Amino acid sequence: MSTVLRAAEPEDANVICEIFRLSILDLCADYYTVDQLLAWAKSFEPNAIRYAIGNGQAKFFIVEVDKRVAGFSVFYDGMVRALYVHPLFAGKGLGAALLNAAEAEARKQGVKKLLVAASNNSQPFYKKQGFKVIADAEYPLAGNLTMHCYTMEKEI
Ligand SMILES: CC(C)(COP(=O)(O)OP(=O)(O)OC[C@H]1O[C@@H](n2cnc3c(N)ncnc32)[C@H](O)[C@@H]1OP(=O)(O)O)[C@@H](O)C(=O)NCCC(=O)NCCS
Repeated sequence: MSTVLRAAEPEDANVICEIFRLSILDLCADYYTVDQLLAWAKSFEPNAIRYAIGNGQAKFFIVEVDKRVAGFSVFYDGMVRALYVHPLFAGKGLGAALLNAAEAEARKQGVKKLLVAASNNSQPFYKKQGFKVIADAEYPLAGNLTMHCYTMEKEI
């Protein structure tokens, strides 16, 4: 298995959105209602992601396995904004590698306390990576829905 971690390009927007959707509908399925999962999975849109990558304010990282995009992470404004692994590649260390990339970017930007809004399913993963829960939160979704998250923090 040859793994490459790199900065995302605007051309990666479609595959990023596909991984986002598949990851939510599979890996998060036992933790939220179907309505919540569908609203969450629809909240990334290729044109907006293409623009965000090109704009460069948020830093998008991609991991490729054997030249196939297998996951991505996003760091922006002191927070890990996204971290999603394709279900077929879960549990192989890619999530930790993508989080390390976001953390390295945060350090580069002088961040001392890295924040994340962790979904119910990912909270144990972040705990293992050194994050602590500091608050409960309700993240807004389309259709007047919300989803429970944990605001977590790591000193870096
Ligand atoms: C959370 C997620 C990114 C983890 O990615 P992953 O590639 O499967 O995780 P890794 O293989 O890198 O795991 C790293 C370590 O965390 C542990 N871990 C991973 N997921 C875990 C979980 N749900 N519960 C407990 N431990 C977990 C692994 O066992 C591994 O431990 P080790 O270092 O002792 O071997 C992935 O499950 C995912 O994409 N989930 C759906 C999307 C999501 O909820 N993203 C977060 C939004 S805030």
